[in-house]
Amino acid sequence: MSEPVIEVEDLWFSYGVEPVLEGISLRVERGDVLGLIGPNGSGKTTLLKLIVGLLPLQQGTIRLFGQELRRFRERARLGYVRQRSWDFERNFPASVEEIVRMGRVPRLRWGRWSRADTEAVERAMRAVHVAELRARPISELSGGQQQRVFLARVLAQEPEILLLDEPTAAVDPKVEAEFYELLGRLNREQGLTIVLVSHDIEAIVTQVTKIACLNRKLLFCGTPQECLASDLLERVYAGKKLVRHQHSWG
Ligand SMILES: Nc1ncnc2c1ncn2[C@@H]1O[C@H](COP(=O)(O)OP(=O)(O)O)[C@@H](O)[C@H]1O
Ligand SMILES: [Mg+2]
Repeated sequence: MSEPVIEVEDLWFSYGVEPVLEGISLRVERGDVLGLIGPNGSGKTTLLKLIVGLLPLQQGTIRLFGQELRRFRERARLGYVRQRSWDFERNFPASVEEIVRMGRVPRLRWGRWSRADTEAVERAMRAVHVAELRARPISELSGGQQQRVFLARVLAQEPEILLLDEPTAAVDPKVEAEFYELLGRLNREQGLTIVLVSHDIEAIVTQVTKIACLNRKLLFCGTPQECLASDLLERVYAGKKLVRHQHSWG
């Protein structure tokens, strides 16, 4: 049975006069990997921020795990990684383990570390293969390693839904492909529901179960095969080349 974990209904939002989201309705079910695509400025980040409660709801409905967003208090069930966070935090003076432990803070009871918390941090580091790097300063790692550390940090929170805003912007295509494979594996093995923003459908197509395409309005929501078979990408991206760095794949 499918269980909706995010339900968005007729959502509108504007920062000023012009709406940047117009009547968005979207449903994410438990176990989905949803790739959210769309050109720059199409409202992808705005939509994620509304879902995680970083922007106020103006018009429309959002339900999380069947509960109205207004009443929803269990924020730690959502793990959010904001756009370009990796760029900002690369030079942070901390070890891998310290960074991953920070991700556990939303789950601490009375601010105290229990054995369960320490175990969650260990599991998160092992899941993305950074346990052996635990003592290393983050600034000394490669881009791909850093990216896995920041993934471990949000996994330490043990979220049921992971929302990632353009997580691979700063790494080369091979590392990017490996990262998406890793997300696919977390989905299959741990049942993690994932919402992933990308502007590169080719990079995510093999790992996602659904594609939603946004350009202020929701233009498409369906399987990646349906998306690729349609002329949607042509229309939305107006002939702009979507496939980056294809030569260096494989
Ligand atoms: N804080 C803000 N204040 C005013 N306008 C904003 C703000 N953030 C984003 N916008 C505008 O809203 C639109 C959607 O932005 P965004 O959600 O960041 O799109 P995307 O993530 O798809 O690139 C863009 O036109 C952008 O310029
Ligand atoms: Mg964005």
